[in-house]
Amino acid sequence: MALGFGGDYNPEQWEPDVWAEDVRLMGEAGVNLVTVGVFAWAALQPEPGRYTFGWLDDVLGLLHGAGIGVALATPTASPPPWLGHRHPDTLPQGPDGVRRLYGSRNQYCPCAPAYRRAALAVTEALADRYAHHPALRLWHIGNEYGTACHCEHCARRFRGWLARRYGDLDGLNAAWGTAVWSQRYGDWAEVLPPRRVQYVINPLQDLDYQRFVSDALLECFAAERDAVRARNPAVPVTTNFMDFYRHTDGWRWAAEEDVVSLDTYPDPNDPGAALRGAMSKDVVRSLGGGRPWLLMEQSPGAASWRPVATPKRPGLNRLWSLQAVARGADAVLHFQWRASRQGAERAHGAMVPHAGPGSRVFREICELGRELAELSGVEGTTVAADVAIVLDWDAWRAVELDHQPHEGFRYVDRLTDYYAPLWRANITCDFAPAAGALGRYRLVLVPNLYQVAPDAAANLAAYVAGGGTLVMGPFSGVADPAERIYTGGWPGPLREVFGVRVEEHWPVLTPLDVASAALGDFTASMWGEWAEASGADVVAAYRGGPLDGRPAILRHRYGGGTAWYVTTLPEPDALARLLARVCADAGVEPVVAGLPPGVEAVRRGDRVFLLDHR
Ligand code: GLA
Ligand code: ZN
Repeated sequence: MALGFGGDYNPEQWEPDVWAEDVRLMGEAGVNLVTVGVFAWAALQPEPGRYTFGWLDDVLGLLHGAGIGVALATPTASPPPWLGHRHPDTLPQGPDGVRRLYGSRNQYCPCAPAYRRAALAVTEALADRYAHHPALRLWHIGNEYGTACHCEHCARRFRGWLARRYGDLDGLNAAWGTAVWSQRYGDWAEVLPPRRVQYVINPLQDLDYQRFVSDALLECFAAERDAVRARNPAVPVTTNFMDFYRHTDGWRWAAEEDVVSLDTYPDPNDPGAALRGAMSKDVVRSLGGGRPWLLMEQSPGAASWRPVATPKRPGLNRLWSLQAVARGADAVLHFQWRASRQGAERAHGAMVPHAGPGSRVFREICELGRELAELSGVEGTTVAADVAIVLDWDAWRAVELDHQPHEGFRYVDRLTDYYAPLWRANITCDFAPAAGALGRYRLVLVPNLYQVAPDAAANLAAYVAGGGTLVMGPFSGVADPAERIYTGGWPGPLREVFGVRVEEHWPVLTPLDVASAALGDFTASMWGEWAEASGADVVAAYRGGPLDGRPAILRHRYGGGTAWYVTTLPEPDALARLLARVCADAGVEPVVAGLPPGVEAVRRGDRVFLLDHR
């Protein structure tokens, strides 16, 4: 086995004489895995009931002849115009009631029976033909699931989803708090997806719809997965996730896949790109339970959907590719193999750019292919971490609902606050679900857990009681999964664990001063809390302003462990000092200590990767 290397291959955009050159150049570059057919529905089924597989037979034959494996995609992310034309109800409807038409991609309603039937039919036909093809290595189901729709089909299924969750209309009314603003429902037919309303929408209606959409898309995925599996259970199945994507609950989705994969497009103009790239890669590894994952897409150059599509400077694609391998990837694939001459992505980077193989980009691709081949022995190995950061889709969605106390409080930014100092210190982190197995970590960070379910709270409490160290950020333990606010003080069911009681949340427009003998004085921003220690030691306290003297950071012994509660967003240096202290206390060590800033160190298996981002 070797690390996978290649990219999305869209031969349907080219005449057959180009295919031969493609396969020759793939050989030159060391490509051993290509994703085929992601957007080939119209090419495979030009009209209902008529399949045209001949060209794909030829392409797969050519690839196989050259020893190149194939991740075969079900083409269901972009139905051909004939589907929308004949079945307009398969086209997604926005919250504004307006249908999104064909002419782009992703134009489907996940609940429309005609879409589901057509998607399953083309998947079955594809699998009937290719499930035992010798080039087939992997099934790639759909593409970047995330399409939402608010139509009548969706409304009907949403009602079924709600009935299963809440039992009956009384249960729904109670959960949604419809006593507020006279929203009581007397008939299921009255219950709607969030659509255009006069003022702010019911928060649980919004949140439940987000949950429902993720589940509805997952049903589409699962139907296609089952169809390909039924024809050959030996071929693993994936679908490609995006960087930090709120729409699909990564934990639930990853559990349905054989291997997880990531499309990642850090911005070459972003000074934090290496950090954000590392974080995305650690998330996807964690979603897959720590097993090797696949870097399914990255751009070898520019991403044309950016307002300013700056290419990757020389060496950058290599650096970010090796970051993926270091952080657990068993394949490095790109979007796409050959640059499109036409269509919306004609300005997107590619392994073979418009300039052709005689180009800087293609030379770098060939070098990368050689280098990855020499890394053999890495594949299959894992990355060990002593620290976990809790990542929770419900907390994420709920904290970003309308009319929260600070609209600038963004969940992924909060995770980044805590991930960044550890990344800079070369301390490897996993991500973990709040109710997941935490016992093997020396340290668990919970930058935010606005919404917390009782079982998750009990899990975190047991982790600390069992000797773990837990650090939790502000605006946590505020609401239950039905978006009902916990009363009596926060962090709700975790008050005892942290030995603190928060009475008021105090978002601010101007910085807060914090005094701390242990950490040094610092400023904090955006958020404060009116808290009272109830057993915890006060490590830092607000100075001046309305919160003067109130605790800002608290530490509490609970059972055999230690729980820290941070009521604010400390400036980055101060948070780094706090986490350095916490890591030292918990016995967490960097992969390599004392490296210059900008040098990333990751251990995978028995190798240490040193990545110089300077
Ligand atoms: C996504 C898609 C690809 C392509 C790239 C462009 O990741 O999956 O088909 O559109 O974006 O960046
Ligand atoms: Zn719909």
